[in-house]
Amino acid sequence: MSNASLPTTQHAVLIREFGEPEVMHYEDGVAVPELADKQVLVKIAYTSVNPVDYKTRQGKGWGAEAIQDNKFSKNEPAILGFDMAGEVVASNDDAYQVGDKVAALSFSGSCYAEYAAVDGHLLAKVPESVSLKQAGALPCIGQTALQFVEFADIKAGEHVVINAPAGGVGHLLIQLLAEKIINDDIKVTVICSPEKYKKLGELIDTSTLNEWIDYTKDGAFPELQADVLLDLVGGDAGVRALDTLKSGARVYVLPTIWVDKLKEAGAQKDLQVAGYKAERNGEDMARVLQMVADGTLTLKIQQVYPLSEAVAAHHEIQKGDAFGKIVLQA
Ligand SMILES: NC(=O)c1ccc[n+]([C@@H]2O[C@H](COP(=O)([O-])OP(=O)(O)OC[C@H]3O[C@@H](n4cnc5c(N)ncnc54)[C@H](OP(=O)(O)O)[C@@H]3O)[C@@H](O)[C@H]2O)c1
Repeated sequence: MSNASLPTTQHAVLIREFGEPEVMHYEDGVAVPELADKQVLVKIAYTSVNPVDYKTRQGKGWGAEAIQDNKFSKNEPAILGFDMAGEVVASNDDAYQVGDKVAALSFSGSCYAEYAAVDGHLLAKVPESVSLKQAGALPCIGQTALQFVEFADIKAGEHVVINAPAGGVGHLLIQLLAEKIINDDIKVTVICSPEKYKKLGELIDTSTLNEWIDYTKDGAFPELQADVLLDLVGGDAGVRALDTLKSGARVYVLPTIWVDKLKEAGAQKDLQVAGYKAERNGEDMARVLQMVADGTLTLKIQQVYPLSEAVAAHHEIQKGDAFGKIVLQA
C-alpha cells in the first residue's frame, strides 16, 4: 500500500503519564502509523471526546490498563481517543479505497491524531448526507445506544426509567426509546435536570413520556414500580434511582464500575443488575450512520474544539453536564 505522497509524521495528542487534563500534549513529529494486513489508514477529520477518554487519562479502567501494559511499561507515550471519521489515504483492505469517507469506533485508541490505522472490519462508509463532523461524533455513543437498547430487551408494556437522557449516549437512547413508546407501547420515565428536560423537546415529543423526575430536587424518588432501569450515571445517582423499581426489576448499567454497588443496594428488592460493554463493529457503525442519514436519529453536537485544545475539551466533558457530544477537529 506504500504511498510516497503520505507524510511520515503528524500532529497528535500524547500522554506520558496518567493525571489531570494537562498531561495531554499536542505535539508534532509523531510517527504516522504503519498499516498491518487488513488495515486502513484514515486521515482523521474529526474525533470526539467520550467519558471513557478522561477516565483512561486518569488511569482508570481497562483503557488505562492497556496503556500501562502496551505503552508506559515500554517508556512509550500513548494517544487517547476511540472515535474517528475521515478519508481513506491508504488501504490493505479490498473493501476500502483511497478517497472513501469512513467512520469507526477504534479498538486501540490513537484517534486524537491526524492519522489512524484502523482494522477494516471496524469501519463503515459515511453516507453522503452525513457530515464527517457528525460521523466523528457518532461511533462510541451510536454503537453503544443501539446495542444497549437491544441488550435491555424491553418487552411491550414495560416501564423503563433512564437517567442522563440528554448526554452523549442518552440523547440517542432516548430517541430509540421514544420509538418504542409508539411501536411497542412501552412507558418511559426520565431522570434529569430541568435544563436537560427542556432540551429533550428538541429530540422527542416529551408529552409521550410517562414521567420526568428532577434529580436536582431533594427527597426520595417516586415508587413507580418500573420494570427496567437504564443507568447511565451509576454511583449514588444510580442507587437513588432504584426507588423507582419494582421487586425483581432489571438494572442495566453503562458505567460498569458501579455494578457491584448497585447489586448491593438492590439486594433487598432482588434486582437483577448487569453491566453492558459496547462491542465495536462496522455493521453497527453502518446502521447508526444510516439512522442519522435518514433522520431516524438526531445527533446533537454541543461544541467543537480543535485537536490542539483537547485539554479544554476534557475539562468541559468532565463537568458531566453535556447535551449531546463534544467533538475535536483534527
Ligand atoms: N460500557 C460501555 O460500553 C459504555 C459506552 C459508552 C458510555 N459509557 C458510560 O456511560 C456513561 C454516559 O456516557 P455519556 O457519553 O452519555 O456521558 P455524558 O455525555 O458525559 O453524560 C452527560 C449527562 O449526564 C447527566 N447527568 C449527570 N449527573 C446526573 C445525575 N446525577 N442524574 C441524572 N443525570 C445526570 C447530565 O445531565 P444533567 O445536566 O441533567 O445532569 C448530562 O446530560 C459514562 O459513564 C460513560 O463512561 C459506557
